[in-house]
Amino acid sequence: KKIPNQMLIIFGASGDLTTRKLIPAIFDLYKDGHLPESFAVLGVSRSHLSNKEFRDKSIWKSPFLQKAIAKQEDDFIKTFAEKFHYHDLGSDYDRSYDDLAQKIAELNEQYQTQGNYIFYLSTPPSLYGTIAKNLNEANLSQENGGFRRLIVEKPFGYDLESAKKLNETLHHYFEEKQVYRIDHYLGKETVQNLLVTRFSNSIFEPLWNRRYIHHVEITNAETVGVEKRGGYYDKSGALRDMFQSHLLQIVSLIVMEPPISADAEEIRDEKVKALKSLRIMKSDEEIIKNTLRGQYVTTQIEGRTHKGYREEEGVNPESTTETFAAIKFYVDNWRWKGVPFYVRTGKAMPTKVTEAVIHFKTPPHEVFMSQDAFRKDNKLIIRIQPNEGILIKFGVKVPGLGFHVDQANMEFYYSDLESAQVMDAYERLLLDAMQGDTTLYARADEVEAAWRFVDPILKCWENNPAVNTYGYSVGTWGPRNSDEMIEDSFGWRNPGDH
Ligand code: BG6
Repeated sequence: KKIPNQMLIIFGASGDLTTRKLIPAIFDLYKDGHLPESFAVLGVSRSHLSNKEFRDKSIWKSPFLQKAIAKQEDDFIKTFAEKFHYHDLGSDYDRSYDDLAQKIAELNEQYQTQGNYIFYLSTPPSLYGTIAKNLNEANLSQENGGFRRLIVEKPFGYDLESAKKLNETLHHYFEEKQVYRIDHYLGKETVQNLLVTRFSNSIFEPLWNRRYIHHVEITNAETVGVEKRGGYYDKSGALRDMFQSHLLQIVSLIVMEPPISADAEEIRDEKVKALKSLRIMKSDEEIIKNTLRGQYVTTQIEGRTHKGYREEEGVNPESTTETFAAIKFYVDNWRWKGVPFYVRTGKAMPTKVTEAVIHFKTPPHEVFMSQDAFRKDNKLIIRIQPNEGILIKFGVKVPGLGFHVDQANMEFYYSDLESAQVMDAYERLLLDAMQGDTTLYARADEVEAAWRFVDPILKCWENNPAVNTYGYSVGTWGPRNSDEMIEDSFGWRNPGDH
């Protein structure tokens, strides 16, 4: 598909996200030949930078691009860097954007970008409303001639009320179809493959319901702690940072009904329906019974001290913010009634992994003796990262006398494919926005439906900071009692197990 000529205007251009994720993604698009013929980037922020300084910081001297640019000729990079310009907003984002509009008009003329603009807000979310308003007042949000799109980063709201308010504010200045809410998990190849696995095979869908599925388990683990983001994270916590956004996106793709077509609105309609069917936990008692949180504590490993969360920079030394969260919930609809879902996420864990495991029910009648009941359930494991792929665990006869059953794997790894080059999530999502494809972006009602489920949990946790909170050692799978959450002595699958 031909990509229209356009300009990308990045607010918060001197920030970490821009240098770390966005510009490397734009570079990959350039390198892979996906940028339109006429394309320009305008960085906007409050730092005093010249064009040259901006290019140096974000391209030539960027630690996140060094490896990629080292492989290219200087001229190739130079042509790329020349597309980059900078506009100093002065001391405040809340001001007239007339001079910005002037600059955009000049660049539009110079680069022939045909009045097509994407505004990427890589700023603190508290500025989204202000920027949208000022863009509108400078006549930059109105689609007169070219397209005008607004990309916003998470966190999208702080709770249900603030998310609704933010949506309302944005809708004041932009139409919903112009707003692209980025959730980088949707840009991951394996997350998209969930849809393909489910809806382009006839062997899974007949089993994809309460008659055959015993429970669903999702693990998201990171080895890192909060690193330099203590200030942000302490106000957020695992439930907001990972669960409300990325993990509920994965849940919605597992839960949703087949869409009529791959059209963005059809898919998003089904996802919203799925999120609306999550059973909202109403009482504190129910929430405390079905959720658990933890915080990593100072830990000695082989003579080395690993910082606990409360010692991290920017974190309140008495913080009760969770760095681990585990939630059990049900989905109240025809397909899923009675099937428990277990989702956990944590920092400072043994390995970096995200996987979803569909546990099928054991056969109704036991013909073959097997000592270990746990190993008999068929599992479909969707490895989102790393070692992206799909695994099916099924019973086979142990060679030899008698009929002993063991589990074997049927496995597929992306790396086995010939065209295995997996696009980075940001690269993919940016390309979609440039083409006007909103399928992999979250819609307003989708984000609100996710908050509606999370909101009572947040409120309950805030009101009961000491309840259901446990410390866990760095490098472990979270509080020990999280294992007891899963009934029938299943426990969580250790993603390290093959
Ligand atoms: C971000 C969170 O959205 O996702 C981070 O704010 C987290 O806290 C990150 O580390 C994880 O992303 P990925 O792609 O590394 O799994």
